[in-house]
Amino acid sequence: MSSVDATRLAIDAREVTKTFRSGWFRRRETAALRGVSLQVERGMIFGLLGPNGAGKTTLLSILATLLVPDGGVARVLGLDVTRDATALRRRLNMASGRPSFLWSLRVDEIIAFYGRLYGLSGARLRRQVDALIEQYELTSYRKAQYNELSTGLKQRVALAKALINDPELLFLDEPTLGLDPDVSVRVRRHVADLRREQGMTIVLTTHYMREAEELCDEIGFIKAGRILAQGTADALKRQMGLGYVVALKLEPRPAWLAEAPGVLRCVDAGDGWIDCTVDDPEKRVPELLRAFMKEGVEVRNLQVREPELEEVFVELAR
Ligand SMILES: Nc1ncnc2c1ncn2[C@@H]1O[C@H](COP(=O)(O)OP(=O)(O)OP(=O)(O)O)[C@@H](O)[C@H]1O
Ligand SMILES: [Mg+2]
Repeated sequence: MSSVDATRLAIDAREVTKTFRSGWFRRRETAALRGVSLQVERGMIFGLLGPNGAGKTTLLSILATLLVPDGGVARVLGLDVTRDATALRRRLNMASGRPSFLWSLRVDEIIAFYGRLYGLSGARLRRQVDALIEQYELTSYRKAQYNELSTGLKQRVALAKALINDPELLFLDEPTLGLDPDVSVRVRRHVADLRREQGMTIVLTTHYMREAEELCDEIGFIKAGRILAQGTADALKRQMGLGYVVALKLEPRPAWLAEAPGVLRCVDAGDGWIDCTVDDPEKRVPELLRAFMKEGVEVRNLQVREPELEEVFVELAR
């Protein structure tokens, strides 16, 4: 990434490590991050994917200055996460899909509390709190106690709170966790709007592959504290050599199909369908069609499917 101008990078992490010590005499050690290097350009929506315990929340927390790394260097918005933490905190924010605020606080009090942490007060603070309450459709819950809110409402409060300082960079840790599908769609749309309208850089974690594919310009796969792959969803699929699936209904089924050039594997998919994975559909489909014609094989149906991001995840998480 040396060719990319440093000011274009929102995040530039090199060999970041973090080990948690817990238990008796702090003897139990968990290496949560084992040398993470990650570059994210400004204005991007970046998705961090990985299995449970991979280190996603730890990495986000370090980049958001909530945890101090043990080793390596992490620069965020051009500032060092450890040395320049105070200056950096004003310019970013983070929301968790598992938000926890003091149970007895009311919605407007929570948002105002965080506003004060960023130095807002008086009429300016009130205006900002009112605007966020309205934007997140929390008006009728303004005086509701936090512990009385549903999961979806709690998440809305967490998002509203995270925007109190107009951050340039927003970290979202599983922003759609446990939300109804229609609410998830709205959250995703909102995240896309924040980037489009305000040029905000957004780094999110998710377990939902469709969310990552739909929303993120680039995706990073993290496992056991290491980034295993990074790129666009398409690039990752190509890189993994997953191939495209050509689904066929043929009469009769030719014996040579699995051995044809460029065919990686063939499986029976039920109901007469054969799923053939090929390396390059634009080359292989015409080749196969010509061979079928030559041998008098009738093609009753044909569909070409892109590989799913889920398959990349399963391969990498193995
Ligand atoms: N405060 C802590 N004390 C001790 N160990 C911790 C602490 N926080 C995280 N860990 C451990 O560090 C590792 C990484 O955890 P982390 O929460 O970053 O994973 P994650 O990718 O966010 O997982 P999930 O998908 O379940 O949210 C795990 O093994 C976890 O148990
Ligand atoms: Mg997590």
